Amino acid sequence: MHITPEMNERLTQVGAGTPMGETLRRYWIPACLTEELPEPDGEPVRVRLMGEDLVAFRDSAGEVGLVEAYCAHRRAPLFFGRNEECGLRCVYHGWKFDVQGTCVDMPSEPPYSKFRLRVAIKAYPTYEKAGVVWTYMGPTAEMPAPPDYEWMRVPETHLGVSKTGEHCNYLQGIEGGIDTAHSSFAHNNDIQNKNLLRSLDPHPALEVDVENYGFRYGSIRNISDEKSYVRVYQFMMPNQQMRASLVDPEGNPIRMPALDGHIWVPIDDENTYVYNIKYAATDATPMPRENFLDSERRNGRHPEQFIPGTYWLQRNPSNDYLIDREVQRTRTFTGIDGVNTQDFALQEGMGGIVRRDLEALGSSDSAIQTCRELLLEATDEVERGLPPRGSDPEVCKTARAGEMLIPRGVPWRDATKDLTVANW
Ligand code: FES
Ligand SMILES: [Fe+2]
Repeated sequence: MHITPEMNERLTQVGAGTPMGETLRRYWIPACLTEELPEPDGEPVRVRLMGEDLVAFRDSAGEVGLVEAYCAHRRAPLFFGRNEECGLRCVYHGWKFDVQGTCVDMPSEPPYSKFRLRVAIKAYPTYEKAGVVWTYMGPTAEMPAPPDYEWMRVPETHLGVSKTGEHCNYLQGIEGGIDTAHSSFAHNNDIQNKNLLRSLDPHPALEVDVENYGFRYGSIRNISDEKSYVRVYQFMMPNQQMRASLVDPEGNPIRMPALDGHIWVPIDDENTYVYNIKYAATDATPMPRENFLDSERRNGRHPEQFIPGTYWLQRNPSNDYLIDREVQRTRTFTGIDGVNTQDFALQEGMGGIVRRDLEALGSSDSAIQTCRELLLEATDEVERGLPPRGSDPEVCKTARAGEMLIPRGVPWRDATKDLTVANW
């Protein structure tokens, strides 16, 4: 499928009223992390989602409000508001709003005034689970049940969640996430070692199965005359991907097998928050916070690698990600430190919204093709008044990624059957 400039716009514009903007608004999406709102009546947080400026706050009862950023009275910024006694009070003239956006106090009007009852600010419903504050920004009548992915059912001791800002459109991030072929190149951090699984066969065969939640695909690398290395990726509509880390780069079982994934949440058309998820594959192998942070550091997105007080990386386009050409010549394929940083350099470097009409896609890009087809299909469904694929959380519950070495010639779907069903 060739992507025309019009199709590209349809895929990438996320504002209210655009086809994709309306489609994304039919799913629950992350608004912020629980850690950003650590306590009742704590500091409000600025949240920009799909081009809308909002403010999140945790009220005295612990409920999270997600309301428009500007006061109903004269549009003063509620970010500066006082978070007190179950509501956010505008510091301009003291109007106060609760988590539903209802105006609960209007001290600048006389006590007998009924004006307050006619005033409200926009507020979106929230659902807090698994370290994430979720929201739904679509029509109330179409609101699905809250999300229930496998990783959301994992105990805290077995789960790590983080987020990172990325300077490009959400779809560029997704397409990097479901592109298995690049890991043989961009993430080859040991170019001298010819025994790395992904170096042994740099052109994986991709087989894509469309599912009611999105799609999954097997990437099959024939690593010897006897063995294939199979990775099963899951894509849950509209913006979540999962893959497994069960074997190390040389094919040995990993001591703490885990599943990794991302959710790409548009801040606006050209900026994205990537939510990073890592969870233990089994109950027997918990994931202490230090282990999660170690893996975050290897990825280049440990909190110490952020610009202080933000979720944005110190290695960024303004300093060419601190690329080291000597390291590139001798040790790693990119010369850029951190797997996540490597991805960002390539995805952000394409520009805010990549010119898909100029691409030349090959056979290793078939998962990317399917992703675009399903996203475009979802925009059609929404325009026809139907719930888009994967918006019912029930169908996303059991999907799990997997990877394993299998004898060559054995069908990967059979071999990975038990591996790719939720365990939690
Ligand atoms: S602008 Fe908020 S109370 Fe006046
Ligand atoms: Fe990558």
